[in-house]
Amino acid sequence: MRTDDKGTPHKAEYVIRGFRIEDLQSVIYINRTCLPENYTPDFFVYHFREFPEGFLVAEMNGTVVGYIMTRVDRGFDYYSSHRAFAEKGHVISIAVLPHARRRGIGEGLLRRAIEAVKRRGVKEVYLEVRVSNSPAINLYHKLGFKIARRVPRYYADGEDAYVMSLQLD
Ligand SMILES: CC(C)(COP(=O)(O)OP(=O)(O)OC[C@H]1O[C@@H](n2cnc3c(N)ncnc32)[C@H](O)[C@@H]1OP(=O)(O)O)[C@@H](O)C(=O)NCCC(=O)NCCS
Repeated sequence: MRTDDKGTPHKAEYVIRGFRIEDLQSVIYINRTCLPENYTPDFFVYHFREFPEGFLVAEMNGTVVGYIMTRVDRGFDYYSSHRAFAEKGHVISIAVLPHARRRGIGEGLLRRAIEAVKRRGVKEVYLEVRVSNSPAINLYHKLGFKIARRVPRYYADGEDAYVMSLQLD
């Protein structure tokens, strides 16, 4: 939770906790309100079951106002000189409802998801972001992500994506 310069907590306090199945409708609502990339309920439940530690929600005044869903991808690391097999954290989706933004919730969710990925022993986290999405790009830069490459027409509407990645030590 953020505090002002006298150490007084901001009025809107929030907690970050693990996703529970009963949060599903709230998460679907946030996803549809905040992002054009929408998923089926099964898609969310699948990722929760695969990697529950990487699926987190933020609650403000008892209401779920944000989420992050992460998975661990397994495959060859084509960027490695010896094409090693590697596990990588992958942030699939993160969103905070408009009225709850700019309070540190997105940052808090992402930091906690990165910790979860680190506990798995994974050495890198990556994500895709629209090249026009300055708020999200700023957030990722703030936490140390770097632009790895640009993928032309990655999104269904033709917009390019940046792939951004963070090396974990
Ligand atoms: C991106 C998003 C999750 C950020 O959530 P948030 O809770 O508002 O973010 P925070 O308050 O934790 O901000 C953390 C940092 O992100 C950056 N940031 C967040 N919103 C920003 C904005 N509107 N403009 C510029 N930078 C912004 C800043 O660097 C900020 O750090 P600061 O407060 O020290 O300046 C939120 O804007 C959102 O849900 N957007 C729509 C969904 C989306 O685009 N998801 C990402 C898809 S890849």
